[in-house]
Amino acid sequence: MGGASGPAHIRSPRNEFGWAVQPPTRIRKYWRMKVELKNIRKYYGAVKANDDITFCAEPGTIHGLLGENGAGKSTLMKVLTGFISADAGQILLEGKPVRMNSPAEAVALGVGMLHQDPLDFPALRVLDNLLLGSSARFVPDRAAARRDLLALAAQFDFKLDPDATITSLGLGERQQLEIVRLLWLGVRVLILDEPTTAISAQQKAKLFAALRKLCEQGKTIIFVSHKLEEVEELCHEVTVLARGRVTGQAQQPYSTDKLVRLMFGRSVTLSKRSPVPLGKPVLQLNGLTVSDWRVEVKKLDLEVRAGEVIGLAGLEGSGQRLVLQACAGLRHPTAGKVRICDKDMAGQPYLRYLDAGAAYLPADRLGEGLVAGMTVTEQFALAERSRSFLVDWNASARTAAERIKKYNIKGQPSTHVEALSGGNQQRALLGLLPPQLKLLLMEHPTHGLDIESVEYIWSLLLERTHYGTAILFASADLDELLDRSDRILVFFGGQVTTALEARKTTVEQLGEYIGGKGL
Ligand SMILES: Nc1ncnc2c1ncn2[C@@H]1O[C@H](COP(=O)(O)OP(=O)(O)O)[C@@H](O)[C@H]1O
Ligand SMILES: [Mg+2]
Repeated sequence: MGGASGPAHIRSPRNEFGWAVQPPTRIRKYWRMKVELKNIRKYYGAVKANDDITFCAEPGTIHGLLGENGAGKSTLMKVLTGFISADAGQILLEGKPVRMNSPAEAVALGVGMLHQDPLDFPALRVLDNLLLGSSARFVPDRAAARRDLLALAAQFDFKLDPDATITSLGLGERQQLEIVRLLWLGVRVLILDEPTTAISAQQKAKLFAALRKLCEQGKTIIFVSHKLEEVEELCHEVTVLARGRVTGQAQQPYSTDKLVRLMFGRSVTLSKRSPVPLGKPVLQLNGLTVSDWRVEVKKLDLEVRAGEVIGLAGLEGSGQRLVLQACAGLRHPTAGKVRICDKDMAGQPYLRYLDAGAAYLPADRLGEGLVAGMTVTEQFALAERSRSFLVDWNASARTAAERIKKYNIKGQPSTHVEALSGGNQQRALLGLLPPQLKLLLMEHPTHGLDIESVEYIWSLLLERTHYGTAILFASADLDELLDRSDRILVFFGGQVTTALEARKTTVEQLGEYIGGKGL
């Protein structure tokens, strides 16, 4: 690592003509560029996206910027590249304060960024895209640019055809083109914001190899990611952000545990649940038979007691959903009985199930759970089944603010629910449930969520079990099923195992049952 100079054609003076804006010579002369951000602040209303962040990346290193979604990483990098301006703070390149009012000015100073959401590429050819950023004061030398493009691409084993149209390129290839373009423009600092989200494993390997090579050439690489394992694999150093602040720094070799603590503010261990004393039967199924056009669950018997957690395992569409819906009053059984707290629910409408204390959380949070277009407050107003026709907006706003706090939702009462991240939508859904539930029915309660949200949501759920709520949940995550349930039912094509005791079941056994062995 750490050679000061790159290969001849990157150092060639001709590349200097690629500057969009001629940078001050005092900055331009540096081939190795240290990046420092001092006390950067950027607020969006009440959201402190960047709250007094100080950050430093050395040339010849790959520096990771790690943090969960919403931590403030993209904001900080947009400040560094002139995309947005900070409310306060200072940017230094090689120790010299600089101002950048646009990405073009940043590139002129040697700082280029690959954005998280790929910017719209114009309907151009690859070569024209390269020339687009070059200074208008020079008539572009197409032949030279073509040679540069091919040479740069070959250096990183990128296969870019100068005459291909951009629209014909996949995301990975566009990314490669953008790297080549920024290098051609002479950047010394290359920032990649979540670059692996939409590319193949093969493209990722190529990208990582390219970044290592650039780092050896003395470039400063800033790799932004929420993926721990990628940062651990690639970066020499890492700065961790959480809630708009730097929570710590670390160097190779990393302690994963420490990084997790820095990302989430507390160490998350997937703890086995400590069982709560069980109460009276809350749910009784006797010979429950329920079906759709695909699958039929026949004569299921089950008794679930207050505080108990039952996991429903199985491939998608094996009957778990039918049972959950039958217990919620959303689907009529063809035979058998559902009793909730000793009440026979036969033929009762959905609202009677709600009155009996049953609630159902669907898998599709935005499709079936929350109403897109509504704010968090409106959502709470909708959920209050008030007798009055008039909505008490003040009360709803108060409830919303209270629940946002209690459920640790990152958003405002006025935030539209679709703008919340998945984890926060799920927290909002849990916040919408009435406090005194007897029976909570859920499909994939933590699907697609980050580990901190998973832990948090389970802590909320298990808190409910202490107050006597029984939980039935379907999941495709074997560890989640084993760690959170008291008992597990495995579904296979409508057949159901007898309840397995979670504590005595191994992942392998569970996997075999799910695959239909031993049924
Ligand atoms: N243009 C914006 N307007 C309002 N809020 C924003 C804007 N950009 C980012 N935020 C908020 O700032 C916080 C940090 O966002 P971001 O920097 O994108 O985080 P990350 O990249 O780490 O996921 C989030 O809460 C986000 O909702
Ligand atoms: Mg981001």
